Amino acid sequence: MVEYTSLKRNYDMYAKEYEEAALRALRSGWYILGPELQSFEEKFASYLNVKHCIGLNSGTDALILAVRAFDIGPGDEVIVPAGTYIASVLGVTENGATPVYVDSLPDTLLIDPSKIEAAITDRTKAILPVHMYGQACNMTEILDIAKKHSLPVIEDCAQCHGSTWNGIKTGTEGTISCFSFYPTKPLGAWGDAGAVVTNDDKLADRMRLLRNYGSRVKYHNESIGRNSRLDEIQAAMLSVGLTHIDECNEKRNAFAARYLSGIKNDKVKLPYCDPKATHTYHLFPVLVDDQEKFIKYMEEKGVKTQVHYPIPPYVAECYADRGHKWEDFPNASYIARHEVSLPMYSGMPEEDIDTVIQAVNGY
Ligand SMILES: Cc1ncc(COP(=O)(O)O)c(C=O)c1O
Repeated sequence: MVEYTSLKRNYDMYAKEYEEAALRALRSGWYILGPELQSFEEKFASYLNVKHCIGLNSGTDALILAVRAFDIGPGDEVIVPAGTYIASVLGVTENGATPVYVDSLPDTLLIDPSKIEAAITDRTKAILPVHMYGQACNMTEILDIAKKHSLPVIEDCAQCHGSTWNGIKTGTEGTISCFSFYPTKPLGAWGDAGAVVTNDDKLADRMRLLRNYGSRVKYHNESIGRNSRLDEIQAAMLSVGLTHIDECNEKRNAFAARYLSGIKNDKVKLPYCDPKATHTYHLFPVLVDDQEKFIKYMEEKGVKTQVHYPIPPYVAECYADRGHKWEDFPNASYIARHEVSLPMYSGMPEEDIDTVIQAVNGY
């Protein structure tokens, strides 16, 4: 059976280094807000060439706290892609603000920048693009619109660690950028973890407060914060992952190149990457005529697949009171109903790629 992903294989590639790092943190006697976190924050900021990295306990908290850092709340609107994972939208609604969705492009499957301006109102307080699947959004157009309307850009970088737009790393041009280090992500921890990065000193300071009960000095709570700190053990292991991130991104790009040249089937539309963008291939999304039929067929051929994401946030049960319908965002809805992700992870055995290609070509 070709697994869709295997965290065990990803872990085993560098097991010794991860175990040394975890033990070092465990034996240190310091578990929260200590030297491992500081060291990882410095290394990740330096990897991205940004001033500040603030380690947090998940990508979802990164989004919630980043939106809060701008004092965005009830009555305010934030532009979000219709085609995203719900966590991007939770970042907005958890602050009582309203997500305003913009449909996806049919080729890159990312937010359509040409539709952003029409969604801006006098209540809009930020634009929140998501570099879905690992591919960078068109940051040139997004930043131009943000500048024209004096809006901050909050990048959701949960899937794109290391990818670039126009040669510039994602997460470095927005006002603040939110990363998830969920275990499957291009830079994955071995539990929940996340971070924000920014070049803005004031925002960085506010994020440090917000992740620590809103407090700078113990028992003096300046803001309504929460407990959202990246712990020492995960930080130590992330420092190991960071030394291998480019190599892992290259591996998935090489696997993607083999899929792109080897798969030849009119019923399976391969992902399109804008020539100005690079991709982490966190996911390898194809569009098929009949999702259910394709998944069943692949399963019969011994290949596991997944769908990202079958229920878009605008029609999620929890947001039913907002009254959005599938028809409101035709491209995002089409993607949700036709997308299937092929197996893709850095520890994937080479021979699995051939099995997947053969299976897809026989569909
Ligand atoms: C696009 C996107 N944003 C945000 C998140 C949330 O990250 P986390 O799972 O670390 O909370 C995820 C991943 O789960 C994601 O894929």
